[in-house]
Amino acid sequence: MPIQTTSKIWHNGSLIPWEQANLHVMSHVIHYGSSVFEGIRCYGQPEGSAVFRLPEHMQRLLDSAKIYRMEIPYNLEELCAAVVDVIEANGVTPCYIRPIALRGYGEIGVSPKGSPVEVYIANFPWGKYIAGHGGADVCVSSWNRLAPNTMPSLAKAGANYMNSQLIRMEAEINGYQEGIALDVNGLVSEGSGENIFIVRNGVIFTPPLANSALSGITRDSVLTIARHLGLPVNEQPVPRELLYIADEVFFSGTAAEVQPIRSIDRILVGDGNIGPITRQIGDEFMSIANGLKPDRFGWLTPVKVTARESVSA
Ligand SMILES: Cc1ncc(COP(=O)(O)O)c(C=O)c1O
Repeated sequence: MPIQTTSKIWHNGSLIPWEQANLHVMSHVIHYGSSVFEGIRCYGQPEGSAVFRLPEHMQRLLDSAKIYRMEIPYNLEELCAAVVDVIEANGVTPCYIRPIALRGYGEIGVSPKGSPVEVYIANFPWGKYIAGHGGADVCVSSWNRLAPNTMPSLAKAGANYMNSQLIRMEAEINGYQEGIALDVNGLVSEGSGENIFIVRNGVIFTPPLANSALSGITRDSVLTIARHLGLPVNEQPVPRELLYIADEVFFSGTAAEVQPIRSIDRILVGDGNIGPITRQIGDEFMSIANGLKPDRFGWLTPVKVTARESVSA
């Protein structure tokens, strides 16, 4: 889906016109993938709108930058305020927010020392990430997730998404909506842009972060909601074949939200319908995000923009 432009983009402390947020082709990031970024959603509320887990996302941006020794000249509070500013300036919600810190134009060598760090934050409308109602048809990818001690999985870095692109393209070319990647040891890791949950006999499983998975904010939200609902959850290594005998499988992610999976490698998950635990957690997640249930975990940051769509769970 083409990007729907808005009016302003936040750049290093100022709001600039969308069409002026350009980079030189010789910028370090273009050659070496040197960026760290976030994906955040802002949801309509019965009154106004609210950003979902804003401090957690911006802290992950700072963490990703720290791993790559990238100095961001803004602290957590300043970055969170910048997100609110750009949303209010553009007046567009619900929306997706894309903060990115990158190594800009300076020197051409691999060492990033001579290239300035630039920070941009854009927001724009973005609907459903994985198409289809009733669950996605996905495959296990022939591509593995990043091996430990090669590219750090806990950093949400632009370069990691070369691997994600291989997973996603292979899935789409073969007629699937998304791919599930295994880690280098053949254990389930995550989707190209989502964490994964498996339900069997009433117990919820998700791979631990050590299986080369991103520390998803939605993953944490799902774990929190599940524990709050009294559902048993286990963060433990997941063998591939558990995917095929699961009662329910779903993805979690900011873009994908709670996304049921209908089949994996053409094997139906359960009876192929959305399972009760997936539905319960998904409904709870969307109700909190849309302000239809109390924000009991303190996940919402209000913004003064009226949403263009009425809210629903
Ligand atoms: C590779 C990968 N895993 C997991 C996730 C889910 O993370 P989050 O829930 O923070 O969006 C994402 C999305 O950012 C991702 O790109």
